[in-house]
Amino acid sequence: MSNEFIPYGSQWIEDDDIESVVEVLKSDYLTTGPKINEFEEKFAEYVGAEYAVAIANGTAALHACCHAAGIGEGDEVITTPITFAASANCILYQGGTPVFADIKSDTYNIDPAKIEEKITDKTKAIIPVHFTGQPCDMDEINSLADKYKLTVIEDAAHALGATYKGKKIGCISDMTIFSFHPVKHITSGEGGMITTNSKELYEKLIKFRTHGITKDSDKYTNEPDGPWYHEQQELGYNYRITDIQSALGASQLAKSDRFLKRRREIADRYNEAFKDIKGIITPYQKEDSNSSWHIYVLQLDLDKLNGGRKDIFEALRDKSLGVNVHYIPVYYHPYYQELGYEKGLCSVAERLYERIVTIPLYPKMSDEQVDEVIERVKTVITDSKR
Ligand SMILES: Cc1ncc(COP(=O)(O)O)c(C=O)c1O
Repeated sequence: MSNEFIPYGSQWIEDDDIESVVEVLKSDYLTTGPKINEFEEKFAEYVGAEYAVAIANGTAALHACCHAAGIGEGDEVITTPITFAASANCILYQGGTPVFADIKSDTYNIDPAKIEEKITDKTKAIIPVHFTGQPCDMDEINSLADKYKLTVIEDAAHALGATYKGKKIGCISDMTIFSFHPVKHITSGEGGMITTNSKELYEKLIKFRTHGITKDSDKYTNEPDGPWYHEQQELGYNYRITDIQSALGASQLAKSDRFLKRRREIADRYNEAFKDIKGIITPYQKEDSNSSWHIYVLQLDLDKLNGGRKDIFEALRDKSLGVNVHYIPVYYHPYYQELGYEKGLCSVAERLYERIVTIPLYPKMSDEQVDEVIERVKTVITDSKR
């Protein structure tokens, strides 16, 4: 066994990615230029959506969607606790109230039955998160949305390239967001994208991205007093992405299928290597979907192991594995506790949190590194067996 440190995730930047960025740096537009549209068009085509809006990051994308969905003071939005805080923070940005619905114990995704229990007359939207890249039960979630007239905003920060019943994630619900942070499937440094099939939502999103300003004369409220005229019609933000980032994103998008194939190969190797190891529960895969494997989450079967998750986590770190935990339930964070959320809210999520460890998975990993991870994990688990 080597001692090389292997992180849990990492980008893969190649020479042509670098060249595409340099080209923009030498051009007239560093921002608000043609690369943004190009990235949006290619992305919309890739996921099979009508429209795509490139934006500063995945969090800004979620905020813009909550705005476009009309979330405001007093509105409730249902999401999962097993996610990055951004999936719930975006509701607070708009003055809404996050409502956490528990997860399913097999997929770790939000449970449609638990969503329905949480729906009230204040509920306006649902934010399902495709945790690890495995699609949520979108048919069930969208039929609840139809029944109760709710907007669905899919958080697909983990799910670029994932498919649900043969359809790519990104073309199914009202709006879907993606993130291009370096550990994600493709990167633009920081960056995000929203896809939608609704022209109305699309127009709201692009206005929100630039201060709430429109330059579309058909949409003006007042009479223009000259050719310079434009209008700020609502309070938006500067959530623009640059051409520099968009060039990198577009170059990476062209490699997305190759990256995805490699992620799936590595996940298959892990599934095979760990399937009969006592003490490990490998990720469950739904028949109707194909995960994009953003992360590989091992569940520890603590009844068969000595010590708890912390001991095993530390032993894995001691073996130079950049293991991580995705995620601390959002409402465990002090900020949420101060808002009045209490532990005990989602028992399945809380139980899972005690047992999970994310091990390294990224497309640039060599076969030797994958073997190293398998060996080191097996050694730690064997040493911890009861
Ligand atoms: C599930 C989920 N949602 C949203 C985000 C936010 O994306 P970004 O970091 O691009 O703002 C992340 C990023 O880690 C995420 O994992």
